[in-house]
Amino acid sequence: MQLQENISLKPYNTFGIDVLAKHFISVSNIEELKQVLSLETYPNKLIIGGGSNMLLTKNFDGLVIHMNLKGIDIVSDTDDYVTVRAHAGENWHEFVLWCLENDFGGIENLSLIPGNVGTAPIQNIGAYGVELKDTFVSCEAMSVETQTLKTFTKADCDFGYRNSIFKQHAKGRYIITSVTLKLSKNNHTLYVDYGAIKSELESMKISAPTIQDISNAVISIRKRKLPDPKDIGNSGSFFKNPVISKSSFNTLLVNFPDIPSYPVSENEVKIPAGWLIEKAGFKGKQFGEYGVHKNQALVLVNYGNAKGSDILNLSKIIQKTVERLFDISIDTEVNIL
Ligand code: EPU
Repeated sequence: MQLQENISLKPYNTFGIDVLAKHFISVSNIEELKQVLSLETYPNKLIIGGGSNMLLTKNFDGLVIHMNLKGIDIVSDTDDYVTVRAHAGENWHEFVLWCLENDFGGIENLSLIPGNVGTAPIQNIGAYGVELKDTFVSCEAMSVETQTLKTFTKADCDFGYRNSIFKQHAKGRYIITSVTLKLSKNNHTLYVDYGAIKSELESMKISAPTIQDISNAVISIRKRKLPDPKDIGNSGSFFKNPVISKSSFNTLLVNFPDIPSYPVSENEVKIPAGWLIEKAGFKGKQFGEYGVHKNQALVLVNYGNAKGSDILNLSKIIQKTVERLFDISIDTEVNIL
């Protein structure tokens, strides 16, 4: 464990924003994390996992703690299920691939989501009809204040759409150190109803898919639609899909008969923010070093040397335009720092 000064955070955030951390330390185990959190010299601390859900808009004048806790272990094992614990610093997609190699089912739809295991519960990552909460058993987290470990069960986490206790009243108070999931060993439940997966499997000519086939389908859809942060900096969906009342939706249908929607409850529907942003004319727009992705309008991108503040300004312009055109406010999904 080595304390470093004035480190560029560019390699530590998938948006690839080049800002400096005044102090930086990478921790590899619980003891190191405990020690670092108790350092009173640095009251201002920022935890970075995979850096996949943040937009850095300025230098960080404190201590950045990079979570590098590794390891995957099997906690319990029956004929039908396995309980697996992965440490926070494991890369999420590599963890998914490890599960597939062992034929453990449940998170194949979540293939290729950028970021680390430890950040997955914060926003209850989700894609193609599956969310983390569907296989989640518990996570372990360290209290920033007392440096003690606490187990959060699924109920404790209060998961919602891109939401959990860690984005609400536990925000900034705990650091997730490991996540435990219950996965199937056979008779896997497959989630193939999501339109894009269905048609991808059809075009792959697969009628009885395995979990590996589903993962392959998801990977090819994502590769087609979403930019790889290794090539173009981005943070996945920049905005959440807004939920609006059915009556507002019916009003919108008058002027926009082709507006897509997903049912949420008896009185509410969810609208794809990507559609709203595309209709507002932003899809594929490039403004020098930054812009809106050409294949998925929900994703803002850094073509190389964009400033976080430029991307933030663009996001505000998009929000205002969507609000003006559709009377819908769209919230950001990423954390702005
Ligand atoms: N659409 C457009 N234009 C666009 C993008 C989308 O018209 O540029 C419309 C289309 O009608 C399309 C619909 O939106 O059919 C849905 O698009 P998509 O399947 O890409 O899903 P999404 O609702 O835009 C959400 C998640 C993604 C996740 C996909 C697939 C949110 C905020 N985003 O996007 O998550 O991969 O569903 O399940 O819920 C992420 O969080 O980083 C992320 C990429």
